[in-house]
Formats: sequence, structure tokens, C-alpha cells
Amino acid sequence: MKIPVDKPVLVTSALPYVNGECHIGHLRTYVPADIYVRMLRKMGYDVRFISGSDTHGTPIVLSAEAQGITPEKVVEKYHEHFKHVFKTLKVDFDYYGQTDSESNHVRTEEIVNKLIEKDYVYKKVVKQAYCNTCGRFLPDRYVEGKCLHCGAIARGDECDQGCGKHLEPGEIIEPKCKICGNDAVFKEQEQFFFALSTFAEFLSSYLDKLGGTLNARNYAREWVKKELLDWCITRNLEWGVKFPGSDDLVVYVWVDAPIGYISFTEELLMGNGGWEKYWKDDEAAIVHFIGTDIIYHHCIFWPAMLKGAEYSLPDAVVASGMVKINGEKFSKSRGNVIWTTEFLERFHPDTLRYYLVAQSSHTKELDFSWDSYSMRVNNELVGVLGNLVHRVLTFARKNYAVVPEGDIEKEVFAAIEARRAEVINAVEEYEFKKLVDAVMALADFGNRFFHREEPWHLIKQGEEGRARAGIVIKNALQLLKAVCILLEPVMPEKMDEMWHQIGMESDVHSVKLDELMVPIESGQALGKPKMLFKRVET
Ligand code: 2FM
Ligand code: ZN
Repeated sequence: MKIPVDKPVLVTSALPYVNGECHIGHLRTYVPADIYVRMLRKMGYDVRFISGSDTHGTPIVLSAEAQGITPEKVVEKYHEHFKHVFKTLKVDFDYYGQTDSESNHVRTEEIVNKLIEKDYVYKKVVKQAYCNTCGRFLPDRYVEGKCLHCGAIARGDECDQGCGKHLEPGEIIEPKCKICGNDAVFKEQEQFFFALSTFAEFLSSYLDKLGGTLNARNYAREWVKKELLDWCITRNLEWGVKFPGSDDLVVYVWVDAPIGYISFTEELLMGNGGWEKYWKDDEAAIVHFIGTDIIYHHCIFWPAMLKGAEYSLPDAVVASGMVKINGEKFSKSRGNVIWTTEFLERFHPDTLRYYLVAQSSHTKELDFSWDSYSMRVNNELVGVLGNLVHRVLTFARKNYAVVPEGDIEKEVFAAIEARRAEVINAVEEYEFKKLVDAVMALADFGNRFFHREEPWHLIKQGEEGRARAGIVIKNALQLLKAVCILLEPVMPEKMDEMWHQIGMESDVHSVKLDELMVPIESGQALGKPKMLFKRVET
């Protein structure tokens, strides 16, 4: 989706449940979103990038119960953990909030009240899973059973092992209590519903215009074509945002979680006003980065809620494919999981950022394996990029110490220009693999250029040869500069190192794409070449 460059952009990343540690499956939403933001800024956009911890719902209360601590304690612990992981990975949010904040409670109440006032909310008696042993209702993940749609083993809110569909309370078959393991029964209870079905027509035309990735739009369209069911938006829980006017009900976590996007914008701009520009006045573009498992919530439920409460609508939903390990689903219980902090204790964060986008197209599944990770690092980062930087810089330092004199050749500018266009295209299509492939192709061109021109022969051929070798080096350095600018969004720390190695003094993080065509300055002192990447031994 091409956004006009003078339009402010709000980019959000799905809010992680802070019920446990971050694993690399989480990262496929955050890293590409961060790359997208950094790239948009390089293209001249005014961007705000927000996310935060999803602190409510049964994932948190169950984790608290299992650890024998309060939900607040769970949230505190993992909220800090996620913040730390993002910092280490250079996922650089302008604001990272949490949904239990005062302003999110207030905003949620305001929106729910508005929906009530506009008659989009009604009361209904429903059958819900109830555990006689524990003497309690079993909302969402408190209950396990079979999926109504496909028969697979499912948890109460979602068929997570089978068809992936959202499940409403009471839709689980043969329910069992997750706490004590006993069979649950169905018992009647009054809950509140959001009249999602009345938004069918609106949603169908909204989805026609929705930007982002096709997987999101198509999946949502299929749903709208079928029957849209109203959503039960209350739960019998203590922990959460109280449903207005009720003491024993909280709103469903999928109500207050996306509202977090609004509250975090308010919190970010606190005191400066201006959040309305994003959420009330349609003056900005809103782009949501999510995983394919939550398309339904972002493309159907969320826009209907926004429309009902008279807020601005998201312009794009970008859905990444899920991450597998060695061809199998992530599973904490089966030990098929890679914890981010353990990974980062051994390997540089930038290599993980690179791998996550280079390994497969954004909307496709990503199958992590140590073989594919080490191959990408060794062949591409060490073999192509690291090698180019090292060869060029070692030669340049030894023979010139500074950037030599000379003009940038047409061929070199043309190669840079062509890759720049590909990169911009890739960003607009959310094809981050195409983005890195285009830049790596430029590095590859650099290697071929250096090899073809043989500056090591030229330098031995008198004054003229030396001057020609200098031109070759200056051109090779120009290519390095371009690669560095274009890859900074992907590997911010490593490209910062490289930037200084080629003698640049400005800040590579804030340099714009226009700088690609600015010749590197002759006479600027070159830094000491140091291996950028380490080989990964299998
Ligand atoms: O699926 C999840 O992990 C949710 N915590 C995502 C919430 S995203 C947003 F809508 F709040
Ligand atoms: Zn029970």
C-alpha cells in the first residue's frame, strides 16, 4: 500500500500476552514491524510505532494460578522481560505500554459505553462451561474440549491445534476443567453480546479497501461471506476491565487489548494532544502488524467495534505466517521452543533479525532450523556482506588510508538506483524478504565489481594505475555506503559499525534514502576493518 508521504503513519505490533517468556515465534511480528518503521522513516515519513503488553484474559490468570502469585505479579515480571527483549533486539517502539493502565481502563469503558448507548450491546442468557468441583464458571482457556467446527482438541476460546477458529463461550464440546481436570457441565448465565452481525455489510465494503497483506484480507472476507455471529464480550473473571455497571463481569480481553492501541497513542502523546489525529479524525494511516492467528480479531471484530464507537479505521493489516521449528509447531510442553534470551546469549541480535526476514516471505510459514540459520549467517552475512566489507576496506586502508579521489561510475549509481526502487516496492508490499534479497544482490554486485576491476593489479601499474585503483575503491565504498543505508533497518547495530568503518560520521539510523546518491566524500578517513559477523558452527 502506498501511503502519501505527507500523511502521518501509526504502526502497531500485536500486544504479546505477558504470561511467560518471549520465544522466537513471537518475533515475527515485532522485527518486521520495526524494519518497516525504520524504512518508512528513511523514506521521509513521520511515523509513530507502538505496542504494549496484553495483561488481561485467561492466559495471565492461569499463569498466575500455576505460579501461585497474583496476576499483577505475573504482569510485572513478564512486562519487564518483554521490554528487555525488545531493547536487546533493537525493536525500538516509541511507546510500549500495558493494557492495565488507567487510561486503557478509561478508554475501554468509554468505548463500551458508546456501543451500549448505540444499541450494539445486548444481554443474553447463554450456556457456559461450569466446573462443579471448583465451583466456578470456566471462561476461555480455563476449559478444554473439542472444537465445534473441526473436532480437534481445542481450548475454550480458540481451536488452537485444529482449524484455528475463534470459539465463543459454550461452543466447546465435551468440556473439561483445566484446573482440576474434571468434566465440566453447561450452566446458564447472563452475558453481554456485541452485535457483530449488524456490521456485515460495512465489513464487506471495508475489507475491499483494506490494505496490508492478502492473507489477512482474504481470510476475513471468507468469514464475512459466511454468517457473522455476535460476540460475547463479557467474562466471569476478577482480573480485567470491569464491564460498566457490573461487579462480577469484566470485558473480554479482545475488547480492551486492541483498545490498547488507542490508549498507548494517548499515553505517547500525553500532554501534547494529537492522538485524535490518529484515531478520530482520519488524518493518519494506521497499520497493524499481527500474526495470521489473530486476523479474525483485527479484520472483523476490531473494525466493527471502531466503526460502532465512531473511531478511525485501520488502513492496513499485515499478517505474518507462523513460526515452526524443524517442521513442527511451537510447543512449550513438548519442549519444541527456542527462547529468545537464550538465543541472544549466544548470537548477535542482528543475525536473528536478518534471518527472520530473509528465511521466508512474510506471509508464509517460517520453519526455523539451526541448519538454515547457520547457512544464512555463514553464506550471506559472512560470505557475501562481511567478505565485501573486509576486502574493500583492507585494501583501501592499506593503500590510501582515506576515501580516494574519483567519480562514481554510471554503472554503480544505476545498480544502487535499481535496488533502491526494489526496496521501496518491497516495503510497500510488506515483502521483507524481497527487501533483503535486493540489498544482498547489491552486495553481490559489489563483490563482482571489485573482482572484475582487479585493483590489486592496477595499484602496481604506476601513477595512472594507482589513480584508477582509487576510483575502483571509491566506487566500491559507495556501494558499501548504499548497502549500509538500505540494511540499517534490518541490522541496525551491525550497520552502525559498518558505517563508521567506512569513515562516515553522521548517524546511519537517521540518514534518509536520498543519501544513497550522494557520493562518499574523498579524503574522509577510513576506520579499522573488523570482521562484522562471526561464522556459526553447526
Ligand atoms: O494473541 C495474542 O497474543 C494477543 N495478546 C494479541 C493482542 S493484539 C491486540 F489486539 F491487542
Ligand atoms: Zn475444575
